[in-house]
Amino acid sequence: MPCHVAIIMDGNGRWAKKRGLPRTAGHAAGAETFRAIATHCKNLRIPYLTVYAFSTENWKRPEEEVSSIMFLLEKYLLEAIEEMAKDKIKLCFFGDLSPMSGKIRKLYDETQRISKEYDSEIQVNICLNYGGRDEIIRAARSCAMDCMLGRLEPDQIAEQDIEKHLYSTGIPDPDLVIRPSGEIRISNFLLWQSAYAEYYFTDVLWPDFNEAEFDRILKEYQTRERRYGGV
Ligand code: FPP
Repeated sequence: MPCHVAIIMDGNGRWAKKRGLPRTAGHAAGAETFRAIATHCKNLRIPYLTVYAFSTENWKRPEEEVSSIMFLLEKYLLEAIEEMAKDKIKLCFFGDLSPMSGKIRKLYDETQRISKEYDSEIQVNICLNYGGRDEIIRAARSCAMDCMLGRLEPDQIAEQDIEKHLYSTGIPDPDLVIRPSGEIRISNFLLWQSAYAEYYFTDVLWPDFNEAEFDRILKEYQTRERRYGGV
């Protein structure tokens, strides 16, 4: 079993277009798929799930679409707060939340407070206003600051020094990265962390993705030989 699965939830817009629906309907269906797959991962005892909900580049989308994604997040977080302790799901966020609405940041604070109160069975990381390059730049800046303050020598900077400044600090790297919707690219997702991840690309659009598809991918993952640069 992988310890950490990461998913680019892609294809919501095309799913909606195929049905003559607005793109926002695709995101609503995608949010339901996310909920089902998070529960499935918990039932399979996969300890970490990371999903790409909104990238640093997604602000370029029409305002109406951005608002609908934010609305879905708010709705999900509100519902999650009620269920988190019962479901033993810990929620974390990767990304710069400072441009998010006060409502989302407040809900975020609340999820962090609740998460501290119980031992979780799964940690779900939601990437929000997240970009892999942005994350690495932030880590580089923090290392530069540590050097300026005399806490670090530039020629001593090692992987652990970068890692401790990433959003994912303390979490194992993803073993498996899944991208639905037929696109074969990584789109600035977990660039540092997925150095040795296994990738799986499927044509299924995210709202059509389900537990059976996830299990099929897991089976295929289990046939792969991971060598981490060795032989
Ligand atoms: C990519 O599909 C999807 C997004 C940019 C948004 C994902 C957001 C959600 C699933 C809803 C909120 C999330 C949570 C965690 C509750 P796309 O729009 O690029 O699809 P397309 O490539 O077919 O146009």
